[in-house]
Amino acid sequence: MDERTAKLLARRERLLGAGAPLFYDEPLHIVRGEGVWLYAADGRRYLDCYNNVPHVGHCHPDVVAALARQAATLNVHTRYLHETILDYSERLLATFAPHLDSVLYACTGSEANDQALRIARHATGHRGIVCTNLTYHGNTTAVDAVSPLFYGRVTPHPDVRTMPWPDAYRAPQGLAGAALCDHYLACLDAAIAELAASDAGFAGLIVCSIFANEGLPDVPAGFMAAAAARVRAAGGLVIADEVQAGFGRTGTMWGHDLVGFSPDIVTLGKPMGNGHPISAVVTRRELLDAFRHDVMYFNTFGGNPVSCAVASAVLDVMEREDLLANARAQGDYVRDGFRRLAERHAVIGDVRGAGLWIGVELVRDRATREPATEETRRIVNRMKERGILMNRIGEFDNVLKMRPPMPFAREHAELLLATVDEVLGAG
Ligand SMILES: Cc1ncc(COP(=O)(O)O)c(C=O)c1O
Repeated sequence: MDERTAKLLARRERLLGAGAPLFYDEPLHIVRGEGVWLYAADGRRYLDCYNNVPHVGHCHPDVVAALARQAATLNVHTRYLHETILDYSERLLATFAPHLDSVLYACTGSEANDQALRIARHATGHRGIVCTNLTYHGNTTAVDAVSPLFYGRVTPHPDVRTMPWPDAYRAPQGLAGAALCDHYLACLDAAIAELAASDAGFAGLIVCSIFANEGLPDVPAGFMAAAAARVRAAGGLVIADEVQAGFGRTGTMWGHDLVGFSPDIVTLGKPMGNGHPISAVVTRRELLDAFRHDVMYFNTFGGNPVSCAVASAVLDVMEREDLLANARAQGDYVRDGFRRLAERHAVIGDVRGAGLWIGVELVRDRATREPATEETRRIVNRMKERGILMNRIGEFDNVLKMRPPMPFAREHAELLLATVDEVLGAG
């Protein structure tokens, strides 16, 4: 590590605490971003295959201009009348099924999920929530309780029950198809029944529509539609966390449409403002009206004119640059490329995902599916040394995680695949 990096690290630890997370064995000092590229302090550029928040590209000039324009005109909270929030809300809600017709704004995905839990609890009169055993929905006290990813497999809170995330690659008892689906539905039923029998009662299910933090599994066909039906039959509501899945990341505007289920409440964040902090809860009118009637929800920054101008510019760029179609085309090209690489590199066990959310599971042995955890860590670091940023995820931290900014083009995909080939070939 050079002297400059070591000094920066020591300063950071002194000011932010020693546990503040950082990527890579040797952290990167980034000073500028443009499109799909990040530039380090030493002048080197890195192809960003990791960051989904700069959705339409780092520092997109149209988004920056919209931000600057509105910031120079007015920025104030939402307790005055203003068109921007309404114009944006109409555009946003038009992308959802008709029953999802009302929106509440916040600043982070955690806040959006926090309000979604409140709305579900308010509507049902119960507290109990089911989530998966390897998920992350955010960092508030309430949301932390439904985020066992960083807490192991224990039930984190008396109002929460976890169920196993649907894993088709390491399926329990070798189950597949309808039998696998039934297995996970039985797990959901058991979690619901436990809550219903407890003081908490059952308020609903919260899931990331594509199970991104679980390692982006191939969700068994029909599972989520059947799960949503069971949640409703038990009197609960379905919350789809689209903080990672949403805004066309998968090549479909919303992950729940891709996976095939209909939520009662949807939460949005990360890519919504291309890095500017704006998030939202989208739900049915009667749920939001009832909630607002009894709860004074106000968010000092949520939905302010600058945030809404930025979020609107993001939608403009997505449309103008046809980024959903690009996500489908380039994502499929990358997945096909990894499948071809699998013919030469036995460590590639499974290639998954949709659009520009790409997961590649690495194994020591394809037959036993022994996770190649340490190898994955090494590969991620070596890719960085060769100028490409990605990371890893999954139960065993052995899934390469790639979610590049959406203007990711064919030439970037080719560079990614050629570099992975080189790194895997080097052993
Ligand atoms: C699926 C999901 N939901 C919610 C969050 C929390 O979002 P935020 O960090 O904006 O609070 C995250 C963050 O990683 C996430 O991945």
